[in-house]
Amino acid sequence: SDQYCVIGNPIGHSRSPDIHASFASETGQDISYERVLAPLDGFAETVRGLIERGYRGANVTVPFKLEAASLATRLEERARLAGAVNTLRFENGEIVGDNTDGPGLVADIVRNAGVPLGGKRVLLLGAGGAARGVILPILQHAPQAIVIANRTHATADALVAQFAAQAAHPGQVSACGFDDIAAAFDVVINATSASLSSSMPPVPAAAFSRNTLALDMMYGNKPSPFMAFAASHGATTRDGLGMLVEQAAEAFAIWRGVRPQTAAILEQMRSKS
Ligand code: ATR
Repeated sequence: SDQYCVIGNPIGHSRSPDIHASFASETGQDISYERVLAPLDGFAETVRGLIERGYRGANVTVPFKLEAASLATRLEERARLAGAVNTLRFENGEIVGDNTDGPGLVADIVRNAGVPLGGKRVLLLGAGGAARGVILPILQHAPQAIVIANRTHATADALVAQFAAQAAHPGQVSACGFDDIAAAFDVVINATSASLSSSMPPVPAAAFSRNTLALDMMYGNKPSPFMAFAASHGATTRDGLGMLVEQAAEAFAIWRGVRPQTAAILEQMRSKS
């Protein structure tokens, strides 16, 4: 069977092998997929070893997504714009880098949450790697606006400048401070890493209404502080588990040419978590 894996450090808690095993049995594809722990200073060497052993591709997770982008001999456009790679495929002597995190988030919002993004106002909290990866996939759904709020203003401004050429009209992507947020958004995405330290970005209550979908890219055993705050101001909330499953489905589709169904595995993971 064709071999794949997910490379990270740490990697023991990755749920990707379960997800891909489920996709493989559902689509009848004969693949193996396991966790690979790479030394912090040994990512490139680990990838070369996999290629030598005939692996067809790999997912890449923390902290190697930027290194994977520089290791790739060819980058898909969306990975280049994201500046990060979460999916590698090894073909014809090339290491091709792609990024399915943003498309996965958008698929979760549009298909699973049932919220179309066309004409919508989207507030993106954070301007790091996670935020950068979702801007192009959201723009492809023709939102009215993407507003980026970040603690460090200069980073948000730099993202706006970077994506100006991808916007359909001037001002479609803009930046603001957390204090400037005065009206509710249709979709609010927490792309900061604040949930990792059980904190939340200083987003005001005014960002949320009963019509808001508030989505945290992180997931855990209980709702993040951001999700709890958004829910207390009327928003519908969602964690990052759907994004995890959808980014895996996009990667599986790149490798195998068939996009698996995600509803059953997502429900199964929710009932376990
Ligand atoms: P990632 O790859 O997860 O995006 P990153 O590139 O280090 O990680 O970016 C982290 C993001 O979370 C940044 O936007 C950071 O804000 P700054 O640019 O101002 O540092 C944001 N962030 C992290 N902790 C935060 C907190 N407690 N409140 C607000 N923003 C936070």
